[in-house]
Amino acid sequence: MPPLVGAWRRNRQVNAPLLPVDPHRRFPDDFVWGVATSSFQIEGAAMADCKGESIWDRFCRQPGAIAGGSNGEVACDHYHSLEQDLDLIASLGVDAYRFSVSWPRVQPSGQGPWNPRGLDFYERLVDGLLARGVEPYLTLNHWDLPAALQDQGGWAARDTLHRFVDYALGIHAKLGDRLAAITTHNEPWVISTMGHEWGVFAPGLKSRTTAAQVSHHLLLSHALALQALRAAGCRTRLGIVLNLAPIHAASASEADLASARLEDGRLVRWYMEPLFHGRYPADVLEFLGADAPHVEAGDMATIATPMDFLGINYYSRSVASADGSWRAGGSGLALTDMGWEIYPSGLTEVLLRLHRDWPVPPLYVKENGAAFRDELVDGAVHDPERVAYLAAHIAAVGDALAQGVPMAGYMVWSLLDNFEWASGYEKRFGIVHVDYATQQRTLKDSARWYRDFLQRQKQHARA
Ligand code: FCB
Repeated sequence: MPPLVGAWRRNRQVNAPLLPVDPHRRFPDDFVWGVATSSFQIEGAAMADCKGESIWDRFCRQPGAIAGGSNGEVACDHYHSLEQDLDLIASLGVDAYRFSVSWPRVQPSGQGPWNPRGLDFYERLVDGLLARGVEPYLTLNHWDLPAALQDQGGWAARDTLHRFVDYALGIHAKLGDRLAAITTHNEPWVISTMGHEWGVFAPGLKSRTTAAQVSHHLLLSHALALQALRAAGCRTRLGIVLNLAPIHAASASEADLASARLEDGRLVRWYMEPLFHGRYPADVLEFLGADAPHVEAGDMATIATPMDFLGINYYSRSVASADGSWRAGGSGLALTDMGWEIYPSGLTEVLLRLHRDWPVPPLYVKENGAAFRDELVDGAVHDPERVAYLAAHIAAVGDALAQGVPMAGYMVWSLLDNFEWASGYEKRFGIVHVDYATQQRTLKDSARWYRDFLQRQKQHARA
């Protein structure tokens, strides 16, 4: 359990300036540096080459679901710009590229026949990365579930777990020998809570009971996939990616502290406890009451199947208040264009805590980055806030490493400006600017900064 009173005290001191990463700071030679994207957010080609419909294709058609009424039909047209985008990735000098497979592109109904043209796209992607000396980090589920499976209950249906295992095996059979890592799910909390409880992400459901069941099924399908892949001889490293944050109390009042503890239970311990100890936290089960998931005999032990790595996505801290009155803008900290506080020390805090409270395998930051209102002027995008954000968060990873946390890598979200889910194209997270009218890519200053930073790291490594 985090020392919440201590956390609250620390909150009062957080107006420290962003610390640039010391240019001479040395990360381990085998530390993996990367950039990340996901299929639905960049590929476009929503109907091309026999691709099936995903729940996000469908969700985008719901009036009012997406800012600006946009959708993923074209996005960054990455599907048709593969070679150019691969060159772009390689030009940054990264070690790794994290991408996801669109399940309905490779298996349109989520079961039954595979789509050779969809599989071929990912084969060209993986081979193209390897040819350029970049390691492929593949995610199986970055949210775009085949809509045909949603029609059969989606993640709330136990049968979907078996479909997911078959899908994992199919991808492994095609690409497994060339991958550096396979992530099962990206951010199960987001799928479950934002997609099934709040209804603001696909599939747009609003039921706490369903959301709790979905979270259990995501964890279980993750572990079943790990077991099946290993039984099939998979030697690629396997893990899951969680969105984690420190949850601070808005004040030292008992009520705010209790609320912070519950939110920590729902965001962090709900996932970490089953994955590492095979049990759900008692306080959250009590809070859920009749909404708690149906768990079958053996499920919990299965979920605790050992992983080769754990991925963390970090953007900001969270602050909990009992009456829901806390607003990010009131803290005095600078905000990103998402309205999220810029809070780099929270990343060190999360990493130290994971290391302290659970027997974690090597840890990767699999996403970290920020949206700002970038402007392309005379062929350049000056984004000093993003440079400062990245530098400060990389320094925060360095601080965790220096304190003994087994950090193995860091990936920037995102390579490209892209479809930011319910925010549509209005929020730009890329270190590369995308002009959506022309599909022109332009390196922002942050991409140049990251490239130069990586170059210095490699020089250190060679020296
Ligand atoms: C994460 C998602 C990623 C992106 C960032 C900003 O929750 O995994 O796709 O949208 O947020």
